[in-house]
Amino acid sequence: MTIYLNGEYMPIAEAKISVLDRGFIFGDGVYEVIPVYSRKAFRLAEHLRRLQYSLDGIRLPNPHSESEWTNIINKLIARNEAQDQYLYLHITRGVAKRDHAFPNPPVKPTVYMMSNPLSTPPAGLLQSGVSAVTAQDNRWLRCDIKAISLLPNVLLRQMAVDAGCTETILIRAGSNSEHLFMSDGFMTEGAASNIFVVKNGKLFAPPKDNLMLPGITYDVILEIAAANNIPHEVRKIGVAEVFAADELLLTSSTKEVLAITQLDGKAVGTGKPGAMFAQLHALYQEYKKKVMRA
Ligand code: PDD
Repeated sequence: MTIYLNGEYMPIAEAKISVLDRGFIFGDGVYEVIPVYSRKAFRLAEHLRRLQYSLDGIRLPNPHSESEWTNIINKLIARNEAQDQYLYLHITRGVAKRDHAFPNPPVKPTVYMMSNPLSTPPAGLLQSGVSAVTAQDNRWLRCDIKAISLLPNVLLRQMAVDAGCTETILIRAGSNSEHLFMSDGFMTEGAASNIFVVKNGKLFAPPKDNLMLPGITYDVILEIAAANNIPHEVRKIGVAEVFAADELLLTSSTKEVLAITQLDGKAVGTGKPGAMFAQLHALYQEYKKKVMRA
C-alpha cells in the first residue's frame, strides 16, 4: 500500500512521524474519508469544502489549494490498485514541544493520506439490515468539526460492538438536564454515521448544526429525495420518534445507505428493510453510476 506523507509517496511501512506530533499527543487535527469509485473520487469538491470548514473550526490554515489537493489525491489513487478505494486524509497541527497552546510561531502541519480498498455492504447486509443500540450523546459541542480526536465516538461505537450490533444511535439530553435522555432527548447521529427516520412514508433528517457531522452521504440522500419527489423534512427528531419509526436508515461514505432493522434488541417496523430504504438505495446506486460516467 502506497501512502502520502508530507509531500512524498511511499510504502506504508516506511512512513514515520514524530512522537511529538500534536495529532499523537493531543488529537489536534482534522480528517476526511473520501470514497473512490472506478478510480474517481466521489463528491471531491464537497469533501474538500468540509475539510476547509473543519480546518477553520480548529484555526489551522489549509496547507494546500483545491487544485493541489486534487493533484495529490489523484496521484494516490493511481498508485493504489483497487478500482474502488476509500481515502483517509489527515492533517495535524504539526510537531512541537508539548504545550496545549498552539505552537508560536506556527510549525508545518503534518499531512497524511492513505488509501484502502473499499467494499460496499454485501448483498446479505442490504437484505437483512443491521442492528443498533442507543446511548447518550456525551460528546462536545463541536461535532460539526471532523476532528481526529474521536475517543467519545470510539467508546460509543464499541458499545454497539459489545452488544453484537453495528452502530450506536446517539441521543442528546434535552434542554431540561434534570430529565433522563430518554424523556426529552433528541437524536443527533450515529457514532460513525448519520441517521434518518422514516414515518408514514416520509423521510426525516436532523438539521445540520454543531451537534452532528454534516455528512456528505446525508446531503446526497436529501438531494435524491428532493429530485424524486420523496416526501422529506429536516427537523429535530425526538427520542420517542426514533423508537416509533417505521424505518431507520444509516448513511456514511463507506457504508453508503443501510437499513437499521433492530434497535436495542427490538424490531424496527417490520424488522426488515422497508420500502424507503429499497428506493433510496436503488437511487443512490443510480446516482453513483451517473456521477462516475460524467
Ligand atoms: N465517518 N457522523 C459521524 C460521526 C461520522 O464519523 C461519519 C462518517 C458520518 C457520515 O459522514 P459522511 O457521509 O461524510 O461519510 C456522520 C467516516 C466514514 C469515518 O470516520 O470513517
